[in-house]
Amino acid sequence: MKHTKVKDLLNSTNTIDEVSVKGWVRTFRNNQFIALNDGSVIHNIQCVVDFENTPEETLKRITTGAAVAIKGSLVESQGKGQKYEIKVSQVEILGDSDAEKFPMQPKKHSLEFLRENAHLRTRTNLFGAIMRVRSVLSFAIHQYFQEKGFVYVNTPIITGSDAEGAGEMFKVTALPFDKTPRTEEGKVDYKEDFFGKETNLTVSGQLEAETYAMSLGQVYTFGPTFRAENSNTSRHLAEFWMVEPEVAFNDLDANMDLAEDFIQYVIKYAMERCEDDLKFLDERLAAEEKQKPQNERSGMGLLEKLQFVLENNFKRVSYTEAIDILKNSKPNKNKKFNYIIEEWGADLQSEHERYLVEKHFKSPVILFDYPAKIKAFYMRLNDDNKTVRAMDILFPGIGEIVGGSQREERLDVLQQKIAELGIDEEELWWYLDTRRFGTAVHSGFGLGFERLVLFVTGMSNIRDVIPFPRTPQNAEF
Ligand code: 4AD
Ligand code: MG
Repeated sequence: MKHTKVKDLLNSTNTIDEVSVKGWVRTFRNNQFIALNDGSVIHNIQCVVDFENTPEETLKRITTGAAVAIKGSLVESQGKGQKYEIKVSQVEILGDSDAEKFPMQPKKHSLEFLRENAHLRTRTNLFGAIMRVRSVLSFAIHQYFQEKGFVYVNTPIITGSDAEGAGEMFKVTALPFDKTPRTEEGKVDYKEDFFGKETNLTVSGQLEAETYAMSLGQVYTFGPTFRAENSNTSRHLAEFWMVEPEVAFNDLDANMDLAEDFIQYVIKYAMERCEDDLKFLDERLAAEEKQKPQNERSGMGLLEKLQFVLENNFKRVSYTEAIDILKNSKPNKNKKFNYIIEEWGADLQSEHERYLVEKHFKSPVILFDYPAKIKAFYMRLNDDNKTVRAMDILFPGIGEIVGGSQREERLDVLQQKIAELGIDEEELWWYLDTRRFGTAVHSGFGLGFERLVLFVTGMSNIRDVIPFPRTPQNAEF
């Protein structure tokens, strides 16, 4: 007999004479009530064991964490809290669990403890919910772009170009660490390496995606990216997933429209399909907030916050306006910021971004037209010769969630910029070809997928929204 998912049983509209389920025991009460979870839904199904007619030996093996197969009938529940339960006719123990040693005890664990047990943490309601939401969001991303006719491009993970400058890179090499081949000048001789050149893990698929946009029109990447910065924060991972659309003939305004529409679509999609999980996460966050002192509480609940993002346009503010706001802000005047904003040209730290979003505008913000000096080489120079058509989208509680720009499509301007930065033009020969043969206005952006999952789940540490986080000094599992 094929087993049925707990989700389908709980959604049943009628009782069923014979059912079979498989899952893991969350709790076993009074030698009678099994709370069974199979990961298909946050809720457990209650399975009522006929303990008088079940061998003592079997009852003993129904322990927290054990894998079991249950046969019985789906009946209306006698107890409160659930519509249906299973009247058990047979329990089979598929895998025993030593309940005393099982780390996921039926009680509240700290998030730190759960991170150390990332291989088991999805046995909890919280991590089951987060990972189901993550899965639905990633499907929503494909759904959105596919509906709009974008082509999904798998850009390389091992890259031979280090021009993006988005972050420190992890080297990819097959050379031995001892007796590394050296050139006459004593440098590592990458000619001897696997690819015959220096290679790294990619920090972004953008440059390669641009070449595809300049032929397929609208493309997107969605894949892992790697950054070796030593940023031990609750917003940074060394391995994270990024979504990067790139669109021919889009200018910066069209790029902003796309980003806003896209983010609203995927949030709405998750809200419609993850109702139970989001309700649970909403309640979790509300309970967390209650623990905080009054002045540190966020005014809105999770669902309220998500709804707010759907219903309100993101505020579009130039970097120059933002600097004026920040210069005149209380924390700047009272020297409460770690980095005091003194003049135009300063790079914005996350404390500034969060001030703008959480205190000043109280809404998602798109900052645009940044100083060229603090942005990447490929961004389109404005006529003022000092700002570029960059945009960052800032979210409450998160800070930067998207970074993007209109790209410099003029070959000569791009070449000049590359020279100024001392980048070897040879290295970018293929990238420059897109500007040599049929160049056109085009734009794109990168959305940090985990930062989106953070926002939608209301979690506060990025390590809790990716299955096995990679951070400095941590690559367990
Ligand atoms: O702003 P970034 O560095 O932009 C780029 O890489 C561009 N090439 C994107 C493009 O235009 N196609 O990164 C984009 C986003 C950030 O806004 C942030 O959400 C996320 O990626 N991000 C990280 N997420 C987790 N951990 C990190 N270390 C991250 N670094 C960036
Ligand atoms: Mg950025």
